[in-house]
Amino acid sequence: MLDRLIIEFDKSLRTMMAEAHSVRPHPDGTLQEARMTDAEKKHAAALMRINHSGEVCAQALYNGQSLTARNKETVAALQQAAQEETEHLAWCEKRIKELGSRTSVLNPVFYGGSLVLGAIAGALGDRWNLGFLAETERQVGQHLESHLEKLPQHDAKSRAIIEQMRVDEAHHAETAIQQGAAELPRPVKAAMQAASRTMTSTAYYL
Ligand SMILES: [Fe+2]
Ligand SMILES: [Fe+2]
Repeated sequence: MLDRLIIEFDKSLRTMMAEAHSVRPHPDGTLQEARMTDAEKKHAAALMRINHSGEVCAQALYNGQSLTARNKETVAALQQAAQEETEHLAWCEKRIKELGSRTSVLNPVFYGGSLVLGAIAGALGDRWNLGFLAETERQVGQHLESHLEKLPQHDAKSRAIIEQMRVDEAHHAETAIQQGAAELPRPVKAAMQAASRTMTSTAYYL
């Protein structure tokens, strides 16, 4: 357990302090920067900051979950998902910089809260743990869809990143369901939605 804690501590520092790297090419790598007004850039950057914080939360949730998960296959699935979330982090981080902005100052708070939530989900057993993963990914998918509507139409670069993330998140949800995820009770889903609303509305500005 102590080993696992040390590894998680190391991962959390890396998520927040170090620049994330992507093994896959960045989805917007071959696209041209669009001409945008300052207001459009600021809005796009704020939306990408929310997505970046969402990925910080995802990292923390999966790390928390794998800390307490019992089944080896579940731990492997969580680690695979966390690896892809690192790529999402890298894509969002780079895009925010290109848009002339910064990541959220609240990321350490989001990370800490999500790590605890993840560890609790993991402790409830693998079916619930996977159910929590599937529901998280489903909600993230819906949220990404809403961002495709909110982003400036001609910001092809940000849109390409979000499109690929949406595909990946759907795949993460599918994997969790295949591994035997339980359907979460409605109040739990609603609480998760409320928590993510708090995160998204603060990360837009902070
Ligand atoms: Fe993600
Ligand atoms: Fe995901």
